[in-house]
Amino acid sequence: MEPMKPLIEISNLSTHFHTAAGAVKAVDGISFRIHHGETVCIVGESGCGKSITAMSIMGLVEGPHGQVVDGQILFDDRDLLRISKEEMRRIRGNEISIIFQEPMSSLNPVLTIGKQIMEPLMLHQRLSKKQARARALELIELVGIPRAEQIAESYPHQLSGGMLQRIMIAIAISCRPKLLIADEPTTALDVTIQAQVLDTLRRSKEQSNMSIMLITHDLGVVAEMADYVIVMYAGKIVEQGDVVELFENPKHPYTQGLLKSKPVIGQRKEQLYSIPGQVPNPLELSASCYFHDRCESCMEICRSQQPQLKTVRAGNQVACWLYEEEARHE
Ligand SMILES: Nc1ncnc2c1ncn2[C@@H]1O[C@H](COP(=O)(O)OP(=O)(O)OP(=O)(O)O)[C@@H](O)[C@H]1O
Ligand SMILES: [Mg+2]
Repeated sequence: MEPMKPLIEISNLSTHFHTAAGAVKAVDGISFRIHHGETVCIVGESGCGKSITAMSIMGLVEGPHGQVVDGQILFDDRDLLRISKEEMRRIRGNEISIIFQEPMSSLNPVLTIGKQIMEPLMLHQRLSKKQARARALELIELVGIPRAEQIAESYPHQLSGGMLQRIMIAIAISCRPKLLIADEPTTALDVTIQAQVLDTLRRSKEQSNMSIMLITHDLGVVAEMADYVIVMYAGKIVEQGDVVELFENPKHPYTQGLLKSKPVIGQRKEQLYSIPGQVPNPLELSASCYFHDRCESCMEICRSQQPQLKTVRAGNQVACWLYEEEARHE
């Protein structure tokens, strides 16, 4: 069966930061796609480039230090890296929206919740004030918050973190985006509230054919939400595949390490990672596999050459010398 054309196709994306100490390759030549209605989770340790990938898609990497230096981001036949700032502004918050870990930092403390939901509706969808207000109340109910009228009149500081995050989802989905990017949307919340927010995300998705790119380092969230999983390490994708295949049959030693420490209810996320060693210093990356010095299966070639991402099983790709033979025969 011919797969449907993806909603977004990212090819060879590279985003660098120019620092006094040298160039940091925050995102280093990654390619992936997200289909209509699909939830793709991006996982990996702190600093591996998850947020910068999201920011690059949103056109929010700010110069002069940060810059998308290469690649293509095809979204509905447009290359987001080559359209005007004006066109990108129209897409942002409208066709693609993003929510972050800290809702407080995205909300305006002196405007009521209602006004903040109404704003993009009036701007992007050209609704009248009255229509926008009605839709705002609808959205508040949609994300599972009762007494919408009262909530619309409140200010951000009057609501709990979990409620604010659901308001952020309401704002993000208000213009019925085709793609919602959620960067650690539940990390700051306690476990029961996390479940509500994930449920809200899932329900919002069911309302439309929205795709979700969900960034998380919580494998429990991945198991619950993902159709497809991308594992990043030091700015690169080391493995990607269908969630079931990836959980049942992880190939890359890094993915295997991540999965060895299965999430335990009530355990803090930071403790999930039990892989000894540290992510390499982004300023000191060599021509080796970036994972080699933490890898139990490290071979000679791993120290001198970087493996490329290759298909080892239909749809699943891994960048690891262990599978070189298998990839060749695929
Ligand atoms: N403004 C900046 N200047 C220099 N380097 C930066 C800047 N922003 C990000 N980086 C670097 O880019 C790399 C990727 O950062 P990114 O924020 O994407 O990581 P992440 O995977 O989202 O991590 P976390 O899980 O902690 O959110 C890191 O090495 C980081 O230090
Ligand atoms: Mg991040």
